[in-house]
Amino acid sequence: MRTATVTIKPAALTHNLLQVKKRAPNSKVLAMVKANAYGHGIKVVLPALQQADGIGVASFTEALEARDLGWQKAIGLVEGVFSAGEWQQAIDHDCSCVIHHLPQLNWALDNIPKDDSPTRTVWLKYNTGMNRLGFDDDTVIDAAQQLSDAGYQLILTTHFANADDFEHPLNTVQIQRFNKILKVLQQAIDADIQGSLCNSAGLVNFPEHHHDWVRPGIMLYGSSPVTHKCAAELDLQPAMDFSARIMAIQTVKAGDSIGYGSRWFATEDTQTALVSIGYGDGYPRVVSADAYVCVIDSKTAQSQRCPIRGRVAMDMIAIDISAASHITLDSEVRLWGDAPHVDEVATYAGTIGYELLCRLSTRPKRAVHIEP
Ligand SMILES: Cc1ncc(COP(=O)(O)O)c(C=O)c1O
Repeated sequence: MRTATVTIKPAALTHNLLQVKKRAPNSKVLAMVKANAYGHGIKVVLPALQQADGIGVASFTEALEARDLGWQKAIGLVEGVFSAGEWQQAIDHDCSCVIHHLPQLNWALDNIPKDDSPTRTVWLKYNTGMNRLGFDDDTVIDAAQQLSDAGYQLILTTHFANADDFEHPLNTVQIQRFNKILKVLQQAIDADIQGSLCNSAGLVNFPEHHHDWVRPGIMLYGSSPVTHKCAAELDLQPAMDFSARIMAIQTVKAGDSIGYGSRWFATEDTQTALVSIGYGDGYPRVVSADAYVCVIDSKTAQSQRCPIRGRVAMDMIAIDISAASHITLDSEVRLWGDAPHVDEVATYAGTIGYELLCRLSTRPKRAVHIEP
């Protein structure tokens, strides 16, 4: 049987949440679980994130799924609702919404939830420089005033454009704008207005600006959110192992090539193995010549680094096993997990770990690693 497998490690998720809490001890945590928990599967992830104060999702459908799975704490819709009808649904399901533009403001003003409804708390989005969603300097104070007059509790929020890059000049601009407007709102409208500025990268790079809520995503899943430190240096554990098995072993003769497009030629007779994984599973088709996988030595259980040779196909890749030992048909091959880390694979593929995690196909089998 074909055995490409995605294994989720709940203990790693819980560990990573703990790291978030250690870094931001005075803030509440809105754990981002949008896009099916960054590809990990929301059903497995939610129980591991019970210690979060709330979860963040991108759509009402995702919110509903979380409610159906029994999540009772706060849910934040980080893009808000898309219609007046959906605003009512958000009220019905106790979701708290971002309000980032006029139509959403009007839906909220036209239909005010009851005093004790979680929807009475809204995340007012302020555009500090990302220039995607949010009210600008000219409109944010007025929007806040209207919402506050209507009885809403406010969390002023914004999103960094470059928080992964500590040195980027826009970070300071965004932080200053955010802090200034938050102060204005607190002084002019309501001292209890809260703030939420940081995603994972902001949380790591700007500890003095955590405010009331942090909104970590990628670091919960064990990837590094910053450019200058890897996941291990941040004490983050990958929450996903992606693995497959060897399906054939062969020798490619010196001078021969392997795979589509004949992109790699053997300079000497080379032992290769075919692994039952490909872009049909979500492994990236284009990876650089440095890309490697780890094969588990069947005797010692040690992990051995084996380079990928030739093109990644839909269902298989070829790897060079000439320097490896005790490789047999059916040996386990790690595509990403502890090593290589998904962030490394992403570098070889010219993308980011987020994308690789989110774009896995439905073909690999799903498993959950239960700690012994
Ligand atoms: C509004 C908002 N906050 C927080 C996050 C989490 O970001 P990260 O995964 O980089 O921590 C996201 C993700 O894109 C987001 O859109």
